[in-house]
Amino acid sequence: MSEKLVFITSRIPKIGLELLTEANIVYKQWPYERKITKQELIENVRDCSILFNVGSNQLDKEFFKACPKLELVSLLSVGYDHVDVSAATQYRIPITNTPGVLSKATADTAFLLMLAVSRKAFYQHKKILKGKWQKKIPTDILGIELHNKTLGIFGLGRIGLEMAKLCKGAYNMEIIYHNRNRNEEAEDMLNARWVSFEDLLKQSDVLSVHSQLSEETKGLFDYRVFSQMKDSAIFINTSRGAVHNEEDLIKALEDGQIWGAGLDVTNPEPMAPDNPLLEMESVAVLPHIGSATVETRNEMVKLAVQNIIAKINNESLLTCINPEVMELT
Ligand code: DGY
Repeated sequence: MSEKLVFITSRIPKIGLELLTEANIVYKQWPYERKITKQELIENVRDCSILFNVGSNQLDKEFFKACPKLELVSLLSVGYDHVDVSAATQYRIPITNTPGVLSKATADTAFLLMLAVSRKAFYQHKKILKGKWQKKIPTDILGIELHNKTLGIFGLGRIGLEMAKLCKGAYNMEIIYHNRNRNEEAEDMLNARWVSFEDLLKQSDVLSVHSQLSEETKGLFDYRVFSQMKDSAIFINTSRGAVHNEEDLIKALEDGQIWGAGLDVTNPEPMAPDNPLLEMESVAVLPHIGSATVETRNEMVKLAVQNIIAKINNESLLTCINPEVMELT
């Protein structure tokens, strides 16, 4: 039996616990429904070698300093904006994540939001709930169509590519994108065109954000940016809520700078139930369910456990965010 103790911060799909048990790995698990606090996390991880982290617990310098036995953090997410990666590297702790396996499910969520916004579906549903299913007149609460429109992707990586494939296949949308680096796969497969950020704003009928949250992207989509978009445009964000400025988004929608918005991520999360976005006609908000399917969550958990097993067996990690840490150990 391994002497490495794993701490898991939440309930996880059964397959994860089965794989850990099969590998004779001893784990303890946060037993409560509520989110673990920073102090509780430190108390629980202090004696552990491995943290299996679910969700957005802040893993900062103070945390790494307080957990001297820690040898690995295995994240159950592709995003790692909640981790101070340079502090982890300083404390010689590799961080692994779960890229790839969640791309299709997350793109499906972006596509779902795009379609829901384009037909004001969430708003119409709420009207029925309020007993307001009225006889329609031909100009009532109209949506807009997506056929042959232009999809702009901000941050065309694995998830953005899946979203682009869906939109091309379903609606023959033209694909434009803005990235630091060119995505040749998307250019070859989908005729995607790299454009400047300004052109992405000007030309997109639907602008879907798939970038990471970083110093460069934090608050990037603000009023000034929204006002450069088409007044008929739909803004979709399934990456991180802090990439857009929520107050500015509300104002841009109210002022008609853009037409609609679909959000799977908000800032803060959870969104307050009285947030004005929730009452707007062409807005759809979901509670960060991008990767929340049975199949994808199982694959994410398997990958997170494979990284743990690799670490215990002194093998190469499958998905390491800070591989430079290996040079230091
Ligand atoms: C991810 O994997 O980063 C998802 O957004 C869940 O946080």
